[in-house]
Amino acid sequence: MAYFTEHGLLHKYQSGFRTNHSCETILLKLTDDWLEAIDKGLFTGVDMIDLRKAFDVVDHALLLRKLEIYGLDFNTLKWFQSYLDGSSQKKDYEDNVASWAFDTNITDYNSAVKVQVSLAYSKAYAEIQKNASRFDLSKLKEDAAQQIKFLRNSTELKNQTELKEAENLGSKMSKLYSTATVGTASFSPELVDIMAKSRDYNKLLNAWWGWRNESGRKIRDLYRRYVYLTNKGARENGYTDRGQEWRGKYEVDDFGAIVEKLWNDLRPLYLEMHAYVRHKLRKVYPGKVVEDGYIEAHLLGNMWAQSWVNIFDLVEPYKNKSSLDVTSNMKTDPRYNTAEKLTKLAEEFFLSLGLKRLPAAFYQKSLLQKPKDRGVVCHASAWDFRLYKDVR
Ligand SMILES: *[C@@H]1O[C@H](CO)[C@@H](O)[C@H](O)[C@H]1NC(C)=O
Repeated sequence: MAYFTEHGLLHKYQSGFRTNHSCETILLKLTDDWLEAIDKGLFTGVDMIDLRKAFDVVDHALLLRKLEIYGLDFNTLKWFQSYLDGSSQKKDYEDNVASWAFDTNITDYNSAVKVQVSLAYSKAYAEIQKNASRFDLSKLKEDAAQQIKFLRNSTELKNQTELKEAENLGSKMSKLYSTATVGTASFSPELVDIMAKSRDYNKLLNAWWGWRNESGRKIRDLYRRYVYLTNKGARENGYTDRGQEWRGKYEVDDFGAIVEKLWNDLRPLYLEMHAYVRHKLRKVYPGKVVEDGYIEAHLLGNMWAQSWVNIFDLVEPYKNKSSLDVTSNMKTDPRYNTAEKLTKLAEEFFLSLGLKRLPAAFYQKSLLQKPKDRGVVCHASAWDFRLYKDVR
C-alpha cells in the first residue's frame, strides 16, 4: 500500500485500504455531490457494481500488465499471478478432496487416486517453493517473511520413485490400520467398546493383543521403511531428521527443554495419581496388578491407555457424590440423541465462545457416523480444505 501511495498510483476516490479514507468518507462525498446536483436541478444516476469478488471480475492479464507497468518486480508479479489463477490453492484443495475420498471410503482405487493427486500437488508445490526462494527475506515485513519461510520449508524426497513409494506406504498403512479387525470385531465400535466397558482381564488382554497383531505387526516393516524415507527427505532438505523439522514449527530453540520442564512440573501429581489408580485396580483384578511398577496398558479403558475416563467407576474416590457424567441423559434426551444434533450442540458451545457458525455444507459433507457399507478411517478428525469455505 505504501508503494501505491508513494507513487500516486491510486485514483483519488479509491477509498478502501487507505489511511484517512473509508466507506463513511466516500458516502459523505457522494451524498454531498448528489445534494449539490439536486440543488442545481440536475439529474443523478448511479451505477452500483458488486465487486465483492473483485479479483474474479477483472481481467487478470490486464491487471497483471498494469501492475507490471506500475513497476512491480517479477517475483511479486508471479505471486499475484499464482494468487489470481488460484492454481496452487486448487491443487491443495484437490489433494484434500482425494485424501477425504480415501479416508471415508477405503478402496484400492481411492488409494491410487490419492497417491496420484498428491504427487501432482508435490510437483506444483516444488514450483511454489522455487518462487518463494527468490525473495530476499530481509526486505520483507516480518509476517510476510515468516509466511515465505514456511513455504520454503520442505522435507520432500528429491527422487520421484522414492517419493511415490513413500506416498504408497502411507496409504497402505492407513488402510491396514483402519480396516484391521480382531475376529469379527472392528476397531470402532466393537474394540473401543470392549476396552471401555469390559472388566474381564483376559477379554481386555485379547482385544489389546489382537488389535496390535492386526495393526502394528502388519504395519511394522512398512513403517520402518516409511521412517527411513521420511528422514531421508528431511536430510535432503537440510534437516538432521524429520523430527527436527516438526519441532521447528514451534519456533523455539529449546523446545525439548520446555517440554521436559512441563513434564517435570506435572510428574509428582502424575505419580500420585498413578499409584492411586494402581491401588484401586489391584482390588478389581486380584493378583494381576503389581504393587509397585507399571499398570498394564489394557486395564486403563482405552486402546492406548491415553485417557482413563472409562475406568472412572472403578477408581471413583467419593462414591456417593452425584455424578457429573451426563452421557446417559444425553443418549435418551430427544434434543441430543442423534449424531447431527450432538454436533449442533457442540457447535452452539463454540458459538458461545464467539467463534463462527459452521457453513451449512458442513452438515451435508461431513461423515458424522460410521457407514456400514465400507471401510473408513474411523477416528474423529477435523478437516479444513482451505478453499470454498469447505470444512468437514
Ligand atoms: C467408494 O469408492 C468407490 C471407488 O473405489 C466408488 O465406486 C464408490 O461409489 C464409493 N462409495 C461411496 C459411498 O462413496
